[in-house]
Amino acid sequence: MQTVVITGGTDGLGKGLALHYLRQGARVLAVGSTPAKGEALLARAAAVSAVDRAVFLQADLTSVAAARDLLATVESTCSSVDKLVLCAQRYRLFGSRTVTTEGFEHSFALAYLSRYVLSHGLRKALESAPQPVIMNVGTPGVPLGRIHWDDLQLARRYSGFKATLQSFRANDLLGVAFAALHADTRIRYVGYNPGVVSTGMPNHLPQPLRALTKASFTLFAASVAKAVAPMACLLDEPPGERFTAYRATRQLPLKGAAFDQADALRLHHLTHDLMNAV
Ligand SMILES: NC(=O)c1ccc[n+]([C@@H]2O[C@H](COP(=O)([O-])OP(=O)(O)OC[C@H]3O[C@@H](n4cnc5c(N)ncnc54)[C@H](OP(=O)(O)O)[C@@H]3O)[C@@H](O)[C@H]2O)c1
Repeated sequence: MQTVVITGGTDGLGKGLALHYLRQGARVLAVGSTPAKGEALLARAAAVSAVDRAVFLQADLTSVAAARDLLATVESTCSSVDKLVLCAQRYRLFGSRTVTTEGFEHSFALAYLSRYVLSHGLRKALESAPQPVIMNVGTPGVPLGRIHWDDLQLARRYSGFKATLQSFRANDLLGVAFAALHADTRIRYVGYNPGVVSTGMPNHLPQPLRALTKASFTLFAASVAKAVAPMACLLDEPPGERFTAYRATRQLPLKGAAFDQADALRLHHLTHDLMNAV
């Protein structure tokens, strides 16, 4: 039986993939921070006779310690992991800078550090699977944002947009670095941009942006069911290259600063040092 681990597996795209793989007969470990969403997922699993294969793991992935605890739980429960899907995200586009108890800026911690910890930390469990794949869901191919090398935590020049966009670009580089560092790995790392999809994402935006985003989703966004189909295809038949980036079904050229290998390794080493301090 395949094992699929999905962060943000209790809502939106992650939940769509969780239900897809439960219907396919896989064991799914879905991670989220809200118990009620986990219970709702388990109820949906029961409705498709899959509750014995569905696991909800509560974790607040803004915390590096919680991401490490999650790693330990997954490793002690599963001898191998076939697919790791990284979806946990909470946009904080407005408002003032918030810092986690471990001293990291919120978007950097949740959207990037948790993915760094899980991508590298689950490598052994993934290597034990026949066709292992990591899908890091974000916005590769969007030419916005950059890494603020001299101020990664944006302590001096914070804006929510800057922090969100930096976390996206950091995830592009995470995939590049993973493939560069593990030249002999069988794991395929896919940076994936789903396009605009109608998920629970606007629920956490302030008004009137929430209402506007929901209205635009009604007009322009794909449904979760439609968006999940090409993601599952890539997860089931991963590309041959160690790192690839896609926007929906289109493979993206790995050109420009977003995929620069020297930058990717620089960020990897900086992150490694930050992790040693926690
Ligand atoms: N929707 C789009 O149009 C779109 C477009 C491009 C890229 N993406 C990317 O796709 C991914 C999934 O987005 P989505 O739209 O499906 O989001 P979503 O519906 O808002 O779901 C987000 C998931 O992340 C979990 N999460 C949030 N904060 C967490 C925390 N502190 N710890 C653990 N889990 C946490 C949520 O569970 P809890 O609420 O219980 O914590 C939920 O399961 C994201 O990386 C996003 O950037 C989405």
